[in-house]
Amino acid sequence: MIDSLRKKARIVFRRMRVGANLHRNDALGALHRAWGYVHATQLAGDYYEFGVHGGWSMVNSWFSYRYFRRRLAQGRALPFQRRGTVAAFLAHRPLFHGFDTFAGMPDNDEGEDTLAPGSFWCDLDIVTGDCARAGLRSPELRLVPGLFADTAAQVGLRPAAIVHLDCDLYASTRDALRAVSPCLVQGTVVLCDDYNLFRADQGRGQRRAVAEFSAVGGIRLEPWFAYGPAAQAFLCHVDHPEGG
Ligand SMILES: C[S@@+](CC[C@H](N)C(=O)[O-])C[C@H]1O[C@@H](n2cnc3c(N)ncnc32)[C@H](O)[C@@H]1O
Repeated sequence: MIDSLRKKARIVFRRMRVGANLHRNDALGALHRAWGYVHATQLAGDYYEFGVHGGWSMVNSWFSYRYFRRRLAQGRALPFQRRGTVAAFLAHRPLFHGFDTFAGMPDNDEGEDTLAPGSFWCDLDIVTGDCARAGLRSPELRLVPGLFADTAAQVGLRPAAIVHLDCDLYASTRDALRAVSPCLVQGTVVLCDDYNLFRADQGRGQRRAVAEFSAVGGIRLEPWFAYGPAAQAFLCHVDHPEGG
């Protein structure tokens, strides 16, 4: 009961304060900035999150999306019409895809207490309920339980506006990047929440997964901004065969 009231209060507070997120240098700030960019550039695409845990970043991503959408759709002071490209962008309703085991961290050999198998356990029904409390529910919300490697086929092909990789581990980030790769388009934002974990060791964690992904070619990840204790945002560049 107390837990439920606390959750409710937290959600109401965050919804009210979402406009101030732009000044935060953490995951909520990064998500807000990413949605601001998506609306400024009218990049129609979905939100993909790999590593949902309790759904906190999912819910806050939803709040930021709603904030910028409302501003673009209703901002009377904005000095442009909304009949052409803006109308087309607003007609697109992004889906919020969340992938997680919903059974905690998978087996891994990272040797870190904070990433031990089973840690970050969360129940899918509870997360679904907490997202609904924030107004994020089906058909916009799509939570997919299972290991990324096993659920890759369920990622689909819908273009991505934002990909949020919050799964800590090298193998998990590698599998997530592989799975979402067909959805990446020119300008997609990729948020690597754990980029400098493992003391920024280029041979471990998300750094290793991003380096290997970049080496394959076809998609270049340009560093955009750093945030939080160990995170890095990127912008995707899709190489054209003719080099354009
Ligand atoms: C740090 S938590 C995510 C935090 C979350 N974004 C939030 O806002 O609270 C990392 C999550 O990644 C998930 N995860 C890591 N590797 C995974 C994999 N290979 N497949 C599925 N889920 C994975 C874990 O179950 C865990 O819930």
